[in-house]
Amino acid sequence: MSSPIDSQGVAACAVARCRELVRPALVEAVGRLHPWTGEMAAYALGWSDAAGTPDPGGSEGKGVRQALAVLGAEAVGADGGVAVAGAVATELVHTFSLLHDDIMDGDGLRRQRPAVWKAYGTGPAVLAGDALLAMAVQTLAEAPSPWAAAAVRNLCGTLNALVHGQADDLRFEQRPWSGSGAVEWEQYRSMAELKTGALLGCAIGLGAVLGGAPAGTVSVLERAGRHLGVAFQAVDDLLGIWGDPEVTGKPVHSDLRQYKKTYPVLAALAAGGKAARELTALLESPGQLQGTAAAHAAALVEEAGGRAATRAEARRHLDSARHCLRETPLAPEAAGDLDALFTYVLDRSW
Ligand code: IPE
Ligand code: MG
Ligand code: MG
Repeated sequence: MSSPIDSQGVAACAVARCRELVRPALVEAVGRLHPWTGEMAAYALGWSDAAGTPDPGGSEGKGVRQALAVLGAEAVGADGGVAVAGAVATELVHTFSLLHDDIMDGDGLRRQRPAVWKAYGTGPAVLAGDALLAMAVQTLAEAPSPWAAAAVRNLCGTLNALVHGQADDLRFEQRPWSGSGAVEWEQYRSMAELKTGALLGCAIGLGAVLGGAPAGTVSVLERAGRHLGVAFQAVDDLLGIWGDPEVTGKPVHSDLRQYKKTYPVLAALAAGGKAARELTALLESPGQLQGTAAAHAAALVEEAGGRAATRAEARRHLDSARHCLRETPLAPEAAGDLDALFTYVLDRSW
């Protein structure tokens, strides 16, 4: 069995290798956009600064989705190259979703820099997101593969799921913290599976589809990706409260200030006891949860056990994702890379 250090090294190596494989096609796809939306896309992808000047220090993001697509193809015995169009499509969709999400969540910071809407304005950022989405579908539709049409169908289903999840996420903001209208744990899980899990499942599934895998194998890998997505979102929720903004590149306590129904808070409230009661009173008190009030809420969430419960939930979904990998015969090396990548998602600090 590999140690956590080995596993992190294996995941980093796989991500770097897949990024190199995918980059030329990603650059080409962004190059096909209108120059203005292309500039915003290049900024969002960390390739250039807000003046359009190449920025070698920019963050390109974790690269999890493109790696999942390439490894999905390799896992079913195909060459990773067949998945490049799927990898590009999922990275473009991911970037589009973040551009629009930061507007909806009112978050001004992404990957250590002003979010696209802060740097370029809200209207332009909406348009850049639209452009990325359209180019994602076009890239996949034009993939030189006998399975391109099937891949596009999967991507379109995923887009609908993602929008559904994002709608739930936004609607949950208006729901009460306690009483009959409160968001239940299971409703949260379903939302997380849609807004985050659908695209991770799609990424790995597209790799398998483009690799010519049978439907049964594709569906097992998609399920693995969806579990991974729930684990990913649980960790995202934790980092949104206890992450270091210098490392995550995103604002801390933004979810609390926005009254987002996140896993740690729901778990804390469900735990009952003194800290949970104090937390409910704080969350239900009139006015915004700013500054020290947000920090106090975070402390109460931890005291009530919300942090530990969320970590346990992430671990459960990670285990389920890994279990899926053992349900179907896969090429051993790619399966090992996927396993390491899954573990990395749980252990990441950004
Ligand atoms: C983003 O969810 C999900 C989509 C963009 C569909 P979050 O709002 O929880 O993610 P971050 O914390 O802003 O990255
Ligand atoms: Mg957000
Ligand atoms: Mg959001």
